[in-house]
Amino acid sequence: MARIAVTDGMAQDAVALLEQAGHEVVLDFIEPDALLAGALSDFDAIIVRSATKLSREIIEQSGDRLKVIGRAGVGVDNIDLVAAADAGIPVVNAPRASTQSVIELTIGHLLACLRHIPRADRGMRQDKWEKKAMKGTELFGKNLGLIGFGRIAQGVGSIAQLFGMEIHTYDPYLPSKVAKDQNTTLHKKVDTLFQTCTHISIHCNYNDETHHLVNAERIALMPGKSFDGIACGNHIVNCARGGIIDEKALLAALESGELSSAALDVFEQEPVPAGNKLVQHPHFHGTPHIGAATLEAQARVGRDIALAVMTVLDGGQAETTVNSHLLK
Ligand code: MLT
Repeated sequence: MARIAVTDGMAQDAVALLEQAGHEVVLDFIEPDALLAGALSDFDAIIVRSATKLSREIIEQSGDRLKVIGRAGVGVDNIDLVAAADAGIPVVNAPRASTQSVIELTIGHLLACLRHIPRADRGMRQDKWEKKAMKGTELFGKNLGLIGFGRIAQGVGSIAQLFGMEIHTYDPYLPSKVAKDQNTTLHKKVDTLFQTCTHISIHCNYNDETHHLVNAERIALMPGKSFDGIACGNHIVNCARGGIIDEKALLAALESGELSSAALDVFEQEPVPAGNKLVQHPHFHGTPHIGAATLEAQARVGRDIALAVMTVLDGGQAETTVNSHLLK
């Protein structure tokens, strides 16, 4: 029987799955100070989402008992993968479980941007009938640039094609055949994607390479006019990770009118500090990192991560181990 810390919550069915297998599940957030003081040395496994950060210092304080780290979700930027591998600890995630939910949220944000849905709603709550100020544009006939072209971006691309959008992508790791099969133009340089697309959605990982990949210079390249001749303005959506967009540059572009709208589900600092000017800009709307927050995704994430963690605890190798290349 293993003792498993679940620090950022997990679907009840997944907890039951672990308990039915005879494991003890401790469902409780552990403060960073307690983690640094070695709180994990009492556990065989820990399952986190994005709130718990597992730094090298914390992993090094975890002692010999910890056998596996589970990330209930996709992004592993809150876990020091090298430090985990140095300690001989596999990190496993649930990469496919939330794909559909993030696709749907991205499309929702895109449509909300172009038809001013959040702004119109804010006005109605103040008894305003701002019909003339809410003239929008269609997705039809516009170029959508997808930065990163993994499962989520491909799903977004397929739906956007049904709306009549042309899909462009920048993904330095993508075999050109995949882009071709998806009827998508693959750009070798991210700058040409910005030059070509009035609508951009982010779907890459956050790392040193992608830090502030969306910056003032690149936003300035966006054409503001679509290939069908409509002055549709420029629009950016990010449901991937904070830090890929330079938020100061995003706000400046909204203020100057270079960008007509922006919608973020993820931020450089989460939770977003009170009084954040970007969040208050009338042409911005946001959601508090809810890409995977659906009943369906959380049920899948919980089941997938519980199974992966139990595979490692049973001495096996989970298919979704993300630091296997680093383990000695
Ligand atoms: C993920 O990486 O799975 C999502 O961003 C959801 C989350 O972090 O909670």
